[in-house]
Amino acid sequence: MTRTPVSVTVTGAAGQIGYALLFRIASGQLLGADVPVKLRLLEIPQAVKAAEGTAMELDDCAFPLLSGIDIFDDATKAFEGANVALLVGARPRTKGMERGDLLEANGGIFGPQGKAINAGAADDIKVLVVGNPANTNALIAQQSAPDVPAERFTAMTRLDHNRALAQLSKKAGVTVSDIKKMTIWGNHSATQYPDIFHAEIGGKSAAEVVGDQNWLENDFIPTVAKRGAAIIEARGASSAASAASAAIDHVHTWVNGTAEGDWTSMAVVSDGSYGVPEGLISSFPVTTENGEWKIVQGLEIDEFSRGRIDATVNELAEERDAVRKLGLI
Ligand code: NAD
Ligand code: LMR
Repeated sequence: MTRTPVSVTVTGAAGQIGYALLFRIASGQLLGADVPVKLRLLEIPQAVKAAEGTAMELDDCAFPLLSGIDIFDDATKAFEGANVALLVGARPRTKGMERGDLLEANGGIFGPQGKAINAGAADDIKVLVVGNPANTNALIAQQSAPDVPAERFTAMTRLDHNRALAQLSKKAGVTVSDIKKMTIWGNHSATQYPDIFHAEIGGKSAAEVVGDQNWLENDFIPTVAKRGAAIIEARGASSAASAASAAIDHVHTWVNGTAEGDWTSMAVVSDGSYGVPEGLISSFPVTTENGEWKIVQGLEIDEFSRGRIDATVNELAEERDAVRKLGLI
């Protein structure tokens, strides 16, 4: 029997991440090798022509699972009937822009997009926000969509999670698949806390296997947390293929489930777990099953981890207060 295609809306489709992401979605890597997809691309009017060019290339790939592509410059239309929404397009920080200006400019994008999702997305909508500042943009979109369950809005820390796996695997001399239970806590920013105290290598604590607190504090944590800036410095543009890959991983895991004995990192609406104020969209260790996520409960948090988690969560609370002050939530 032919399956009904899943509608996937991608914003910022003509951007760098969009170019790396769309071909992987269309080839079946987002949802599964047997799931047909329909793409709904949203761009600003000036970039619609470039999105049309990408759509021509998608056609030229003759992907068996791609059942259609529609391009929009209107959010209400783009999210109509969407089952999955990848919110990639955002306003980048430009010279002279203060943090408040950036939050305000993005509020002007993510507020209306949240409203459009509220108005017309499918009942099973799942939203991943990639555009920065991702956690707070997700909060703005979520607060603008009061009829959609809050747990359907998530922000991406899977790239940070994957970066942490890569760094740890090199240090420990193991493959990334030997590492389980990596966690990124908090904000997708330089304050994030990549936690290896709960990670395991061959069933043992990764922190004990490595046994090097100096490396942990002065190498691992800053390398992972500042990797985005290092890539911008080296490439002259922010990470794109690795960000697209992480977005594919995030949604694939959300829909298809985490493996037994493992978990992933997703920024999700806090229920107050681990002292993270309720309502903030913060990264946690989560398991997924049947298209739903659950925060892993009962982990012991030592003093070192407590301080790091508190610092990144405080930053999220400050961002929330700033957008509240601006009337964006
Ligand atoms: P880009 O500038 O190449 O592309 C962004 C695209 O978004 C552009 O084509 C632009 O026209 C479009 N856009 C802007 N406003 C829009 C709107 N209102 N509706 C629809 N489209 C709109 O940027 P990129 O490299 O693709 O990165 C996109 C975002 O992802 C940036 O905010 C970047 O900082 C962020 N990012 C996040 C992570 C993460 O891990 N969460 C990682 C890398 C990049
Ligand atoms: C990344 O982590 O690579 C990006 O979020 C960096 C950025 O500022 O776009």
